[in-house]
Amino acid sequence: MAEFAGKVVIVTGAGDGIGRAAAREFAEKGAKMVLIDVKGVETIADELKAKGSEVIAASMDVRDGAAWGELVEDVLAKFGTIDALVNNAGVAVPGDTAADVSEDVWDKIMDVNAKGVWLGMKAVLPTMIEKKSGKICNVASTAAHIGLKNAAAYCASKGAVLALTRQAGVQYAPLNIQINSVSPGTTMTGLQRDVTEEQRAAFLPLTPIGRFAASEEVSGVIVFLCSNGSSFMTGADVSIDGGMVAL
Ligand SMILES: NC(=O)c1ccc[n+]([C@@H]2O[C@H](COP(=O)([O-])OP(=O)(O)OC[C@H]3O[C@@H](n4cnc5c(N)ncnc54)[C@H](O)[C@@H]3O)[C@@H](O)[C@H]2O)c1
Repeated sequence: MAEFAGKVVIVTGAGDGIGRAAAREFAEKGAKMVLIDVKGVETIADELKAKGSEVIAASMDVRDGAAWGELVEDVLAKFGTIDALVNNAGVAVPGDTAADVSEDVWDKIMDVNAKGVWLGMKAVLPTMIEKKSGKICNVASTAAHIGLKNAAAYCASKGAVLALTRQAGVQYAPLNIQINSVSPGTTMTGLQRDVTEEQRAAFLPLTPIGRFAASEEVSGVIVFLCSNGSSFMTGADVSIDGGMVAL
C-alpha cells in the first residue's frame, strides 16, 4: 500500500518551488492533499487531480488566522482528519540589512515566515491533540544558523521557526505529535529570483558539495519527517545544505 494512503497532508506555499515538489511527492505516495498559496495553487491542484489525487486548493495567505480556522473546518468536513502540516510558505526581500530594512518589510517577513508558521500550527494542533497523532514539518533555513548577508529580518524569522519548532516539539511530544524542521541551503526556486548570479556564486565555496539544491532534494526530507519513519524525532532540525552549516 502507498506510504501515505488515507493520510491528509496540508502544504503551504504549494504553488511553487519546494512546496510544490513536496505536494507532488506526498500525492504520489497516496496522500489526500490540501494546497495553500497566495498564487499558483490551482495549477498544481489540477495537475495532482489529473493524476487521481483528492485535493483541496486554497488561495490563502498564511498570515490570515481566520482563514486558517475556516480551512481546517473545511478539511475536517471533507476529509475527516489532518495527519500532517508542512509550514513551507516563505518570503525573502532584497536589501534586508539591519540598518536599511523598513518596518513594513520587517513586519512582512516576520509575519509570513514566523507568524504564519505559528498560525498554521495553532489551527491544526487541536485536532491532532484530540486524536493524539500528528506530524508538523516547518521550513527554516541555513539563515537560522549563520549570519547570512543582506538577510536581517529573514535570519531573525527563520531563527524564530527553529525556536518554535523546538518548543512545540517538546510541548506536544507526550501526545504523539512530532514537530520538526528542515534548514535548506541555496535551492534553485523562485525565492532565488532576486539573487544575482554573482551573489549566488559567492555561496558555492560555502557549500562543500559544490552545487545548489533542487527542490526535490529538500522535499524528500520533508516527506520523511511527515512519515512513520521519523517516529522518534521531535523538536529537531535537519540541515539540507550541502554541508554549509557543518563547514
Ligand atoms: N530557495 C532557497 O534557497 C531556500 C533556502 C532556505 C530556505 N528556503 C525556504 O523554503 C521555503 C519555500 O521557498 P521556495 O524556495 O520554494 O520559494 P518559492 O518562492 O518558490 O515558493 C514559496 C511559495 O510561498 C508562497 N507564499 C509566499 N507568501 C505567502 C503567504 N503569505 N501565504 C501563502 N503563500 C505564500 C509563494 O507564493 C510561493 O509560491 C520558504 O520558507 C523559504 O524561506 C528556501
